[in-house]
Amino acid sequence: MNHSHNHTVSVFGSASLSNLGPGFDTLGLCIKGIGDIIDARFSAEPGITITSEAPIPLEAKNNTAGRAAHLVMTKAADKRGLHLHIKKGIPIGSGIGGSAASASAGAWAANLLLGRPFTKNELAYEVLEAERLASGGTLHGDNALPSLLGGLILTSPVKPLDYRRIELTSPMHLVVVLPKRTILTADARTILPRVVPRLEAVHNASDLAFMLHSLMTGDWDTLAPYMMRDRIVEPARASLVPCYTKVRKAALDAGACAVALTGSGPAMFAIMKDAESGSAICSAMVNAAGEGAKGIVTQADMHGVRPCS
Ligand code: HSE
Repeated sequence: MNHSHNHTVSVFGSASLSNLGPGFDTLGLCIKGIGDIIDARFSAEPGITITSEAPIPLEAKNNTAGRAAHLVMTKAADKRGLHLHIKKGIPIGSGIGGSAASASAGAWAANLLLGRPFTKNELAYEVLEAERLASGGTLHGDNALPSLLGGLILTSPVKPLDYRRIELTSPMHLVVVLPKRTILTADARTILPRVVPRLEAVHNASDLAFMLHSLMTGDWDTLAPYMMRDRIVEPARASLVPCYTKVRKAALDAGACAVALTGSGPAMFAIMKDAESGSAICSAMVNAAGEGAKGIVTQADMHGVRPCS
């Protein structure tokens, strides 16, 4: 263990897609190529101090990385101070799990500085608790757990520490488009229906089960109906994303297998059969998403939070 104040660790917290259509608060996927970076070191100042060029809260108690790091230090019963420098690679309010990426990176950075006393699974609670800051007080793990653990994660909205990693049998190729618009998760949760008719609930439960089967088996041709007809959450949130219908159509016309909102949006993602069609699908979705939209061609990430290489 290196106790010097100069020893710095750099940790990458990946972005993640959540809900994936009918899996509200239940299903999330870690993705490659976009994330937040946290440089962390011990500090002579007590507690957690934070710097960042991004417009995010810098008090540890209001910052998901700071809160996660604090909880890890408390779990280790270590009273030393930490300094975190947060580089936000994920646009704020974009729908691809920026707060969760920072939470997992903050927790892992503290753990590495401490000499890695905890496994990733042992830090699930700390990362979930930190992510609570971004979601208006509720505890959901569909971004936090994939960002921490990597891969496709099934988590219980009732008890998020009940989670399973779902093994994928084929590589998952994706396009993610980020329209130029910000939606805060806490706000996008207040517009959701409080009560759901039984038929809608049954439909969603069935679609989620079938969708999971398609994802697990890499049966991309069967995916679209299950992923694309959520009856509970996406219809309410589509009203916050003016390009929603256009992006869906553009993705399918360009050859995507299925497309949906991620999290509270406005980001949307498409699943495709192979990497070859990625740039055409990406251009089509970005054009449909309007001025200032950005897109990335990516894949599922199986590793989760890690030191920067
Ligand atoms: N499941 C959450 C939601 C993800 O859709 O509100 C956002 O972090």
